[in-house]
Amino acid sequence: MTLHLQKITVRHEFPVVFTRALFSPRNRSLHAALTRDGLSTRRRCLVLVDKGVLTTFPDLTAHIRQYFAAYSTDLHLVRAPLVLPGGERIKQTPVAVRRILAALHRHNICRHSYCLAVGGGAFLDAAGFAAALFHRGVRHVRIPTTALAQCDSGVGVKNAINYAGTKNLLGTFAPPWAVLNDTAFLDALPQPLLLDGIAEAVKVAAIKDAAFFRAIERAAQRIRQRHLPTIRRILKRCALLHLDHIATSGDPYELGTARPLDYGHWAAHKLEILSRHRLSHGQAVAIGIALDALYASRIGLLPLKQAQRLIATLRTCGLPVWAPELAQTDRRGRLLILSGLEEFRAHLGGQLTITLPAPLGSRREIHAVDTALMASCLLGSALNN
Ligand SMILES: NC(=O)c1ccc[n+]([C@@H]2O[C@H](COP(=O)([O-])OP(=O)(O)OC[C@H]3O[C@@H](n4cnc5c(N)ncnc54)[C@H](O)[C@@H]3O)[C@@H](O)[C@H]2O)c1
Ligand SMILES: [Zn+2]
Repeated sequence: MTLHLQKITVRHEFPVVFTRALFSPRNRSLHAALTRDGLSTRRRCLVLVDKGVLTTFPDLTAHIRQYFAAYSTDLHLVRAPLVLPGGERIKQTPVAVRRILAALHRHNICRHSYCLAVGGGAFLDAAGFAAALFHRGVRHVRIPTTALAQCDSGVGVKNAINYAGTKNLLGTFAPPWAVLNDTAFLDALPQPLLLDGIAEAVKVAAIKDAAFFRAIERAAQRIRQRHLPTIRRILKRCALLHLDHIATSGDPYELGTARPLDYGHWAAHKLEILSRHRLSHGQAVAIGIALDALYASRIGLLPLKQAQRLIATLRTCGLPVWAPELAQTDRRGRLLILSGLEEFRAHLGGQLTITLPAPLGSRREIHAVDTALMASCLLGSALNN
């Protein structure tokens, strides 16, 4: 037998820019991100836009065209921005991915061209998936327009669409070419979409950064009152914590069985499906982390007082901590939510691994869940009242 042990080291570096008025021609951030490739040719750029963004930014496509016109020496907009409906439905079928692939093909987007996507987390997931498939991956630039996308989903290295009733079953790991977070998108964002980002911030603070948790706890009333400077600060810190985790956890492509940033997500993913997406990802995360905090306190990992502070913080911000879907049962009286545990395990592969705050600001992984105890947590009065 001959064994050759092949080693490949791949280094990824991508800028994550926090800016304002990205498409104002005076703002050079996007131009800088696209021209850092060092090419001397005009770059072909296909821009995809989430239709939902136009409800708060009706002039967005005009601004994008003006921006590319201002930098036409270096950048070539291959067609008018392609507007597609966003939200979770873009991930529910492969229709949008096919349309994006067709546009990439029609406009000769090559591996030295750019596919830019401007939209919410679901839109970026679908666009990133198409970009990762085309030519085995073309350069993809993310411009997230929701709080959750700016502080979590848009800054990471994953994309996906849903398949066979399961969230994110088809997808790839594909670091973006650049991420550009424009805080102006947050100004007119409906309050529930702002709070979705806060749910992810509470999540990451609870397992990684006690001081950050206390800052959110203190700011909860201001968040509810939509104090944008406070919200912007929290979202930025949340994004940086996510980025730091991806860079330093040693498992950016999630080959292990643990996925610490998915604290609360086994229940969240199931709740999204059970509620037929009535609950947004962020709302489902808020409920999932409240539930797991209660469970962590029942098994002695998290002091009850801390679980109560976490739940109170979510509530004060205006986030839900309970939904009727938690109590849904099948014909044999079994709680449907609990099948989310096995689905979560199957998605990661290997042994079940659930991350819990233990205590606030740090985390512990558990590999078995007492489903009777979990049932008593989710039906108990602490969440329901
Ligand atoms: N890839 C990852 O690592 C990762 C991580 C976390 C979450 N996600 C995914 O992200 C998705 C949730 O993303 P989301 O919370 O951004 O919601 P979303 O993308 O579903 O958007 C919600 C709604 O807001 C609209 N919208 C987007 N920007 C807007 C703006 N500026 N003004 C007004 N409306 C706007 C959209 O059109 C949509 O109707 C889920 O599918 C989730 O699974 C992915
Ligand atoms: Zn999430």
